[in-house]
Amino acid sequence: MPSEPTGDRTFEDKAPDEYVHPDLNPYLKLHRSWGRPVLTADQAADQRGRWHEEFGRKAPFQVEIGPGNGFFLSGMASKFPDQNWLGVEIRFKRVILTAKKLRAADAESQARVCRYDANALDELFGPGEIDTLYINHPDPWPKDRHAKNRLLGPKFLDRIAPLLASGAEIRLKTDHLINVEALIEAATGHDAYSVLGRCDDVSGLGAPWGEDVRTNYQRKFDEKGEPVYGVWVRRA
Ligand SMILES: C[S@@+](CC[C@H](N)C(=O)[O-])C[C@H]1O[C@@H](n2cnc3c(N)ncnc32)[C@H](O)[C@@H]1O
Repeated sequence: MPSEPTGDRTFEDKAPDEYVHPDLNPYLKLHRSWGRPVLTADQAADQRGRWHEEFGRKAPFQVEIGPGNGFFLSGMASKFPDQNWLGVEIRFKRVILTAKKLRAADAESQARVCRYDANALDELFGPGEIDTLYINHPDPWPKDRHAKNRLLGPKFLDRIAPLLASGAEIRLKTDHLINVEALIEAATGHDAYSVLGRCDDVSGLGAPWGEDVRTNYQRKFDEKGEPVYGVWVRRA
């Protein structure tokens, strides 16, 4: 059962699926009836520890948190069709937008998108199941009183360490310096991680890990002439 996210979000984001009246959000109904590549929260949790069966093959498992409208997930899945791709998105509408992008990119066999709260990844993945975790422009929650809602808080690396394969990577792109510092600080002081690199101009210099696709938010910050940062972390 999906856990209930906390924070200053809209009603439909806070409530588990079964408490949302479908009239409040037409995308709730739509995401249930869409079929693959969309998985509801319950369908996604059922795959815990055996995601490769969902794809019908064993392949490097690449997970993106918060794909938004799906530019990155569809772009990367198209570039790397021999890998298994999953987007974990909390908003029903964005699940559907991502599904449409996957269809347009002809990436539906190697990619899925599920509606889930990334604060509860341990409900979704078994030990060592993830090979790469992409986090692109997580919600910034810039006010101090909302700091508890930031995904990359101090406990995040602890919680996901068991879910990452040995040598797995976390690849963060963000417009928000607080996220850069939070991840580097947490990884530096953590036995299970090492920081592989940092870049303060991903859009100009490229991502430190190489192959990349520009996200929707990244484009917005590029157009404003504002920096997009990258942090690259490895699981020991
Ligand atoms: C600022 S947007 C960035 C979207 C996209 N990654 C990009 O770079 O264009 C943050 C995304 O993360 C999603 N999100 C926020 N909190 C989340 C959570 N707890 N679990 C899963 N997705 C979440 C939002 O719904 C949104 O799609």
